[in-house]
Amino acid sequence: MKNNGLYKNIDNYIRSVRSEFEDKLATLVELPSISSDPDRQDDIKNCGETAAQFLRDLGADAVALKTPGNPVVFGSIQTGKDNRTVTIYNHLDVQPADPSEWHKAPFTFYKTGERYEGRGTTDDKGPALTAMLAVRYALEHNLPLNFKFIWELEEEIGSPNFEHFFKKNYDQLKTDSFLVSDTIWISRKQPAVPYGLRGLQPFIFKLETHAKDVHSGLVGGVARNPIGEMAEVISKCYDAKTGKVKIPGFYDDIRPASKAEIASFVKSGFTTKNFQKAHELKKIRPHLKSDSDVLQAFMARPTFELHGITGGYNGPGVKTIVPYRAEAKISTRLVPDQKPARIVRLVKDFVKAINPDVRVEAIHALEPFLGEFTGPYSDAARIAMEFAFGRTPAFTREGGSIGAVVTMQKHINAPITFLGLSLPEHGYHAKNENYDWGQTSGGIKMFVKYFEEISGL
Ligand code: BES
Ligand code: MN
Ligand code: MN
Repeated sequence: MKNNGLYKNIDNYIRSVRSEFEDKLATLVELPSISSDPDRQDDIKNCGETAAQFLRDLGADAVALKTPGNPVVFGSIQTGKDNRTVTIYNHLDVQPADPSEWHKAPFTFYKTGERYEGRGTTDDKGPALTAMLAVRYALEHNLPLNFKFIWELEEEIGSPNFEHFFKKNYDQLKTDSFLVSDTIWISRKQPAVPYGLRGLQPFIFKLETHAKDVHSGLVGGVARNPIGEMAEVISKCYDAKTGKVKIPGFYDDIRPASKAEIASFVKSGFTTKNFQKAHELKKIRPHLKSDSDVLQAFMARPTFELHGITGGYNGPGVKTIVPYRAEAKISTRLVPDQKPARIVRLVKDFVKAINPDVRVEAIHALEPFLGEFTGPYSDAARIAMEFAFGRTPAFTREGGSIGAVVTMQKHINAPITFLGLSLPEHGYHAKNENYDWGQTSGGIKMFVKYFEEISGL
């Protein structure tokens, strides 16, 4: 049953909600809900309460539910007990931002023409509000679909309490499908519908060889150097030039991407040149010879990444000390069917054999995710993208991770569809993060079309 009147008012509607969208996005951006910062607990709470009120204004039964960590905003709108239910997931916590790098204050909303700047505009407050406004249109037009919202406030720290939330509120979470809007396109001209995510296993390596920094003229030659030893451990873990992991067994459980998948990645219109430009990468790893190599490297292969090493002296000039400690922040991105627990064991055993004084601490892990890229929900996603943006989306895998998704898959047998709206140039986690009206207005249309398609399944 097609509702022919459904799109008659949509352009007017989209125009009419623009200022409301901008106001609400400004409100959320100006609540710095940085989940990794313990000093931002009040902002997190405030952000959750404000967002729950947005959902109540929409007609939802909505609350910020307590967890042992940050709250989860949960809302539900019942339109009919025989209607299907879609559960929309977004996250409202954000990454930190260093004001000295930005051209304006990161937690002040700033609008220039069609562009909205501020931490969280694209990841993921803008897409959350875009979906919310599409739901309102669907409700006003009596689309026969029930809606649930899950707005998480711990995604950027790996969703450590999401499973707790999910189990505790299981009875309210019944759904026919999930819709996740937290992924990015290939380019502004090329939408993407990912069906896979990499997992993540973070580590902290710590080494303390003595009690304090000491004059290197006095003890140099005698004292151990923890930063040097740390560098040695890391260089044995992986080849920094190619990224190849040298820990035995690391690659054992990988399920290779199929020929059809790789063909789909390549068909996406991805070019290494645009990718480098969008992320300002001057040069990339030289062993990657083709677009296909590059795509596989971030969509379907695992990594060992070094995020930072601290210790010693980092001020102006040179200070002749032998440092007493070193700490390295590391993570491995994992692909199906690698298991975080096994990776932890391999890394711990390997490091111990090289340098038993290095303490390896494993942090909360995210498992890799692989869903479907065929079937009625994938068709609905393709139809919705084509309808709103006039382009066929590429079916790809995402190099990033969203911890909540694996929990949803594990506990509820329902398809999970990714309809993201972010663009490479929006700068996920980067300085001057932004979102734009083009993605918002197209996004509202896309979600309405998607809702219509799945309401009839
Ligand atoms: N929206 C991203 C996930 C993502 C990243 C999708 C890249 C597509 C491309 C999400 O907010 C995110 O940043 N996840 C983190 C999780 C981590 C901090 C635990 C990630 O992937 O690093
Ligand atoms: Mn995100
Ligand atoms: Mn993020």
